[in-house]
Amino acid sequence: TILLLDFGSQTSHLILRCLRAHNVYTEMLPCTTKLDTLTFKPKGVIFSGGPASVYDARAPHVDPAIYDLGVPILGICYGCQEIAWRASTDNVARGEAREYGHTDVTIKKVEGAEHVNQLFQGLGEEMHVYMSHFDKLVKLPENFVTIASTDNTEFAGIAHKTKKIYGIQFHPEVSHTPRGTELLKNFAVDICGARQHWVMADFIQQTISDIRKIVGEKAQVIGAVSGGVDSTVVAKLMTEAIGDRFHAVHIDNGVMRLNESQEVQQLLKQHLGINLTVIDGSKVFLDGLKGVTEPEKKRKIIGGLFIDLFEEEALRIEKAAENTPNAGKVEFFVQGTLYPDVIESLSFNLSDTIKTHHNVGGLPARMMNGQGLKLIEPLRMLFKDEVRAFGRQLGIEEGLVMRHPFPGPGIAIRIIGEVTEERVNIVRKADHIFISMIKEAGIYDEMAQAYAGLDSNRAVGVMGDARVYGYIIILRAVCSVNFMTAEPYEFDFKLLTKIARRIVNEVDGVSRVTYDITSKPPGTIELE
Ligand code: XMP
Repeated sequence: TILLLDFGSQTSHLILRCLRAHNVYTEMLPCTTKLDTLTFKPKGVIFSGGPASVYDARAPHVDPAIYDLGVPILGICYGCQEIAWRASTDNVARGEAREYGHTDVTIKKVEGAEHVNQLFQGLGEEMHVYMSHFDKLVKLPENFVTIASTDNTEFAGIAHKTKKIYGIQFHPEVSHTPRGTELLKNFAVDICGARQHWVMADFIQQTISDIRKIVGEKAQVIGAVSGGVDSTVVAKLMTEAIGDRFHAVHIDNGVMRLNESQEVQQLLKQHLGINLTVIDGSKVFLDGLKGVTEPEKKRKIIGGLFIDLFEEEALRIEKAAENTPNAGKVEFFVQGTLYPDVIESLSFNLSDTIKTHHNVGGLPARMMNGQGLKLIEPLRMLFKDEVRAFGRQLGIEEGLVMRHPFPGPGIAIRIIGEVTEERVNIVRKADHIFISMIKEAGIYDEMAQAYAGLDSNRAVGVMGDARVYGYIIILRAVCSVNFMTAEPYEFDFKLLTKIARRIVNEVDGVSRVTYDITSKPPGTIELE
């Protein structure tokens, strides 16, 4: 394992991704982590970048005991300044100008010092890199040599003469440093000797055996499944680990897509052999949403009813379990939390308020506090694409593995205004046509999310010879890497008009179709 100590840079998690892509297992912890609290012995340590200035009184610093571990250290940007500052506080000062953007570094070979040259091994004499810093090294720390420089920064790369300690001023983890991942691999594999054995199959076996250890021989576990990839992977994994002692619960909230709940049932129960209960809550939810138009209120109502129904089911499962001789109490609640959700709570935050992540709809908080259940999050170390790879290994079909995410409040936040059964049905039909045609055109995987929504207004149209006053469908399809920003998908115009024609022809009551071309920001992906 490589230990990544995070100083709060926006790109710290990308260091972890790069290393995992080279099959090197890496864990990220806040930079202030005390060495004696570590549960593993790292093969090497990386200090990330960060927004602070090392010479400020409030600046974060690593536990000095890290330097006594005797393992290689790589400092990136702030991390490099941290190393230099530790050697002598006057090694770092504010630069005249912020150095920001693309630049080339010249790599310097140092004669007779093998480990010093290992970091840039195989990367040639020049390397295109991305810099973003104000502070810089103004002196070479004692016992260090320069291994890279730019026109602006004499000490763009430094290495200790005898110890395997390195610092670089640029960011190897971002895509603007094209060969940066090779540099990180040089550090982790060649310099630290980390093994490249982060393989999905092993990870699955390890996770299954961990779950068995945690849950024990008798206890039962419950979890909610939506039909999305995360909860399905969790459910399959739990089933592999403890069989029918895992109880998956799917609640039809009345605002799922066309036939979605039936499909979830078929796929999870019949195809994947998961012990699943489907609860039809559609009437309860639609009654609860009657007359409500305010987006956040819709979310609260759906979230609250979901918890109520889930709790009821958990109690029922618990009661039923009392009568089974070989099974124990329901003691655990499982959730498909992913790494980006926990990253905030692991990373270092300058304001000292290290955030705990939000759990969707407050479900775990109520299950844990109200019923004393313990939380299991088997995917908490994984990124979305890793969960997808994980799903494939577990035999989950490709269509589900690559499915676009779908929000908990479902179609309700894609219908502007009141959610009624009639309006839900219109959106369902239009959405089904839209998504089927996208899939037929082979472009589903090119977009991060796509759906049909509904405007609160109506518009005039002519159909046949008659004047109609019909519904307005809003189509939205976006490309996005992390859902924080998004761009509209650039449709082939012929395809788009074909989709619009089919929707107007086949969905009763619709007279117009529009395509939303707003980026995020300023728009959001959902309509509400
Ligand atoms: P926005 O609309 O904020 O969405 O650009 C960003 C991503 O978050 C999803 N989303 C939600 N997911 N409950 C969820 O489970 C919600 O209330 C919710 N609101 C938005 C949205 O689908 C997109 O992927």
